[in-house]
Amino acid sequence: MKFLVLNGVNLNLTGRREKDVYGGETLEEINREIEAFVEGKGHRVDFIQSNFEGELCTQIQRAEGVYDGVVLNAGAFTHYSYAIRDAIASVSVPVVEVHMSNVHAREEFRHKSVLTEVCKGEILGFGKNSYILALESFLI
Ligand code: DQA
Repeated sequence: MKFLVLNGVNLNLTGRREKDVYGGETLEEINREIEAFVEGKGHRVDFIQSNFEGELCTQIQRAEGVYDGVVLNAGAFTHYSYAIRDAIASVSVPVVEVHMSNVHAREEFRHKSVLTEVCKGEILGFGKNSYILALESFLI
């Protein structure tokens, strides 16, 4: 199987911003660990990060027919992007929503996701392992 890990706005700063919340490893380092996990299971994974809402919509559209599943951490777009929500609803490829932090233990504006309803499921609060657990959900 082939998977896409899609990271949204500000996730490129992982390892440098709010280390107490998101940890000290860079996105590149986390991606290498995810890659080792997925390839160790005999599958493939691609990685895309964008700070642009429309680009994330384009990548979700392009995932149709190419990937068996998408793991999406949309960052702050999670909380208000109806465009990303519509993109997810427009494709049949399953999308699992991911957050490194436990958004429900943080500011109130993070408690609401406009994406969850159109996602296959949601995994949050396990740091970088949220990505691994989301990918695992496609393999069980
Ligand atoms: C995040 C949580 C969001 O609220 C935040 O805007 C992010 C990262 C997470 O991975 O915990 O950028 O999606």
